[in-house]
Formats: sequence, structure tokens, C-alpha cells
Amino acid sequence: MLSRTFKSVMIALAFGAITASAQDFDDPIPSRRLTEYQMPPATQTHEFARVPDTNIVLLSQMSNSNLVKIELDPTTEEFVALHSFPMGKDSGSGLHGVWPSTVYPGMMWLSLQLENKLLLVDPGKESWTAPTILQTIDIPAPGNGPHCVFEIGNRVWAGLKEASKQTGKYYVFSADVSNPTDYTLYECLNSPVFIKEEPTTGLIYVTQDSDSSIMRIDVSTGETEQLPIPPSVGNTAVGMTTAHGPMSGVWFTLAGNATGGTGTFGHIGSDGEMEFFQLQNPLGANSGLLHLADATTEDGGPALWILSTSLLSEDSPDALIHVTFDADVTSVAGEEYISMLTQNSKVHRVVPLDFTVLVSELSTFTLAQLTYSNTVAGQWRPTESVSGSAVNAEA
Ligand SMILES: *[C@@H]1O[C@H](CO)[C@@H](O)[C@H](O)[C@H]1NC(C)=O
Repeated sequence: MLSRTFKSVMIALAFGAITASAQDFDDPIPSRRLTEYQMPPATQTHEFARVPDTNIVLLSQMSNSNLVKIELDPTTEEFVALHSFPMGKDSGSGLHGVWPSTVYPGMMWLSLQLENKLLLVDPGKESWTAPTILQTIDIPAPGNGPHCVFEIGNRVWAGLKEASKQTGKYYVFSADVSNPTDYTLYECLNSPVFIKEEPTTGLIYVTQDSDSSIMRIDVSTGETEQLPIPPSVGNTAVGMTTAHGPMSGVWFTLAGNATGGTGTFGHIGSDGEMEFFQLQNPLGANSGLLHLADATTEDGGPALWILSTSLLSEDSPDALIHVTFDADVTSVAGEEYISMLTQNSKVHRVVPLDFTVLVSELSTFTLAQLTYSNTVAGQWRPTESVSGSAVNAEA
């Protein structure tokens, strides 16, 4: 029989050993979590934006022209309530674009694509209060079909996605926010989607998806110019976002076609040249990159959130990809892949909130929310082994 003292020593040694090997894991365990929130059933769930300085997110469902108001928990950003409101004269009004106004703080721009109108609305404080229409802008002929809407400086912009009934052509609409009769229609290619300002030059860039080109607008002269996407890198320019600091310029994505995508995205800076980047990880090879958002943080450095979608091809995955760059943003340094819980959900838009990231799943009336605990995007260590060399070595 072991003496009591000896047993105590053994226990002490055992604890010592455990304590020693456990020291590296004293920190809280890093985790990441994807939550899907079910919206009201609709065949097309599209765009969303947070009403600035509130806990309300507005989401468009285009197929029934309903606006969903979602209330977020102010601390966790979890969804706590939602209410849905029909917008336009009937369920065929084609609610699509959602964008916050800065000229009118707290107010939101919406587009009724199939009624050929823009609306400025007061969204109402609570999730259950109905939005109030403050202003209606009828898109003047020959313009047709405002899709995405933006406010840049004191002008409201919309890409007109439908062929003109009068000319068969496509246009970009721009009007003075406080005097919409002061407007311009810029003729463009088939068909305009995102409209963004390059911050250094003030030039406006517009993606055009079907004709796979980017239009540059000099607002001061009214001149426009086309920058075709070289077919060798990919096609279908869709998402575009403005970035500042080391990533300064506009960034855009190529969504590919029915045979899949090429995992390619691009940048235009103050020199006006298109520069292309390609995802390196095999997981991104067929990705059709539809939309993107700036993911830069002080600690993590320059980064983008990029959305791969099955919208154009089922050969492209539905995934959210966090891409980091080297310090001078000349090459991709890291890629973290977050596969969507529902594949073939045709993911549509990505919008970062303060602590979490939201993705709309177009065909499954869902918003997905990505949450990190005890770590941040871009520092998810298992990503480092994703290329599979360790698995191959084991085989
Ligand atoms: C689809 O895109 C690929 C890659 O860019 C290209 O090679 C192919 O010709 C395109 N197919 C069609 C039908 O446009």
C-alpha cells in the first residue's frame, strides 16, 4: 500500500505535468461561428444596410417588393426582432437597392426597379414602425430600372439595369439630392451595377456586368470612358467598393459566367490603371466573386471581405473569403474561407457591422452572420494548413 505522503507527491507530480503542458492553452479558446437567420419566405432576398447609429438593418426582398426591418441586439448584434413592409404600388414593384443617406442623417434610399423610382424614406425608429416616404424621384426617360442606389457627396446615383424602352440602351442616373431636377443620364453598357468614387481623383467608376467592363465618369466634364475587363483574367464585373489608406482606390470583383469564376478581383487607384489579383488557394479557383467590402483593421492591416456566389454557376461555391495583403498591397498574403452553411443559396451581398459580418443568401431567404470569439478574421490559425500538404504527407 502506498503511503499517504507518496500518493500526495504522485498527485502533485501529475498536476504539475498537466499544468505544464496546459500552459500554452491558458487563453480563452478562439472560435468562429456562422448563424443563419430565416427571413420571411421570398424567392429573392437582395440588399441590406444598417441605418447608421441605430440597431436597425433594412433588407430588400425583390420578388415580393418587401422591406424587412431587423432589430439587432446592441451588444452582440444578434437578431432580436423583424417586421416586413410592402414597398411600392404592388408586389411587382421590384424593391432592390438600400443605401443610407448622409445628407439626410437617419434617412435611407431605396430603389423600386420595376416602378422606375427612387425613394427617400424615414425608416422609423422601431422594427415594427412602418417606413415613411419623404421623397420620390421618378427616373426620367429614357432611363429604366434603378437597381443599386448610392449617395456620393450631394448626389444620388443609380445603375439602371433594364434596357431603355425608348432607346434599348442602358444608363447611369445621377441627381442633386436637394434638387433632383438637376440630373444626368450617362449612357453605358449592359448593365450598370455598382457606382463608386475613387477617393483621390474624385472620378466615378461603374461596374457593368453582362458586357464585362468598367465605366469611368468625370463628373466635372461629363466625359465617360470604358475600361473593358481583359477576357484572359475573367468576366462579369459586379461588386465595387471604395477603400482608403494603403488600399486607397476602388476595388471590384469578377463573378464569372455559367462555367464558373476565376477567383479574380481588381483595383483601380489614382493612376486609373486596372490591376488584378487572383486567389491562390485551390478553394478559390472556381469562385465567382460577386461582392466585396473593406475588412481593414488597425491590428490586421489591409484586407477585404469577398463573396463567392453560386448565382451564375453551381460550380462556384457560396463562401465568404477574408483576404489579407502585404503592407504595400501589391500581393495577396492570406486567405481565410468561410463556407456558407447553405450551398447553392446564391449569396448576394456582404456587409460588415461593428463586431460581426452579414451575408445575404438570395435564394434561401436567409441572412448569415459570422461571429468570432477570442480571435479576429485573418488570424484563424487552421487556415494555415488548408492547402493540404499535411494530409498528403500522412497518406
Ligand atoms: C466563361 O468564362 C471563361 C473564363 O473567363 C471563358 O473562357 C469562357 O469563354 C466564358 N464562356 C462564355 C460562354 O462566355
